[in-house]
Amino acid sequence: MKKYNVALIGTGFMGKAHSIATAVVPILFGAPVEIERKVVVDIDEELAQNAAKQYGFTEYATDWRDVVNRPDIDIIDICTPNDTHAEIAIAAALAGKHVMCEKPMSMTVEEAQRMQEAARETGVVTMVSYNYRHTPAVQMAKRLIDEGRIGDILNFRGYYLQDWGADPELPLSWRFNKAKAGSGTLGDIGTHVIDAARLLVGEFASVNSIVKTFVQERPLPAGRFFGPAGQASSERGKVDVDDAALTMIKFANGVYGTIEVTRNAWGHHNQLGFEIFGTKGSIAFDYQRLNELRVAFADDPKDAFGFRTIYSGPHQPFGDKLWPVAGMGQGYIDIKSIEWYNFLKAIAENGKASPNFDDGLQIERIADAILTSGVSGDWEHIEQPA
Ligand SMILES: NC(=O)c1ccc[n+]([C@@H]2O[C@H](COP(=O)([O-])OP(=O)(O)OC[C@H]3O[C@@H](n4cnc5c(N)ncnc54)[C@H](O)[C@@H]3O)[C@@H](O)[C@H]2O)c1
Repeated sequence: MKKYNVALIGTGFMGKAHSIATAVVPILFGAPVEIERKVVVDIDEELAQNAAKQYGFTEYATDWRDVVNRPDIDIIDICTPNDTHAEIAIAAALAGKHVMCEKPMSMTVEEAQRMQEAARETGVVTMVSYNYRHTPAVQMAKRLIDEGRIGDILNFRGYYLQDWGADPELPLSWRFNKAKAGSGTLGDIGTHVIDAARLLVGEFASVNSIVKTFVQERPLPAGRFFGPAGQASSERGKVDVDDAALTMIKFANGVYGTIEVTRNAWGHHNQLGFEIFGTKGSIAFDYQRLNELRVAFADDPKDAFGFRTIYSGPHQPFGDKLWPVAGMGQGYIDIKSIEWYNFLKAIAENGKASPNFDDGLQIERIADAILTSGVSGDWEHIEQPA
């Protein structure tokens, strides 16, 4: 069986998460293709060297350009800030490497289009790391919807609330910088909810949004620009991205919805969630309780009617591959491992991963329309996938 060598680019928060996932995926699921964690790359040599040792890669390098064309590399795993995704992914795809790319796929729609074209040209497998959709409870929600258990969907209420941006003295890391991030809260976390909405409801037809920046200036970081914000310097810099966005949605299938995203919601650490109301029932999910899917079915007996909780376990999608008892507790790494399993399975089957660069491009179109509407105040129509 062919062995697929992986090159990981970027050793920060996501570099670590992907390294654990690629290490455990064969143990949890039995790898659909055999992989070797071959090279880890970071522009910071010390980080690259440490990561090779700590994360378990054979070699390290400091320039992804030295790695992307190597004949012994089969998969490029992009875990760098958003401004690098397009250049690395296009070079990787044109070199015939399969590409796992962290979200958001790109900084602009135009970049995403070029990434999609490069991948289509060589036919490589692509995936964008909208990992929350792989959560067994979210996949269970999809199963219930697909089976008609909540009837026809009436509306979708999505949100992603965090609080780490609420402190105005938090230094201006790359996530507050348009040139590095493309957009702010919307691209950083809002795109995860857009992905969930597309998965569970369908394509967006148009959006009408309010987009706000609450903290206009922040102290510049004293040390590194990447990674956790770290120490503040005495100098201040301008924030040129959004802190929050509130969006009304008209879906192409007639469903309506809302999405609220903010990194300025004290007390909400990492709260991605949604409620979906249908003609025969409701579904509710909140990532801070990711093992739980709350459901209410209209035909439940009247005296026992109301929301009840399904704890994720072996009966939910992918749950059988994790732990044999419901309520044992699934976590972020389980989900990242499911993501990697799905990606490797698509490679093994010469198929398509989901969400791939086609999905990533469509999410960029939606995010772009939300930002445009935030300025125009108008309903903005969204170009549909070809
Ligand atoms: N899917 C998720 O849940 C999730 C969560 C956090 C971040 N992300 C995404 O992951 C990506 C990385 O975010 P992070 O939080 O890991 O960032 P980070 O700042 O923690 O780490 C980024 C790393 O990339 C390195 N780097 C920067 N430019 C590079 C280059 N040109 N070549 C090689 N290395 C380079 C930096 O030195 C740093 O070590 C971003 O696109 C972000 O949006 C996704």
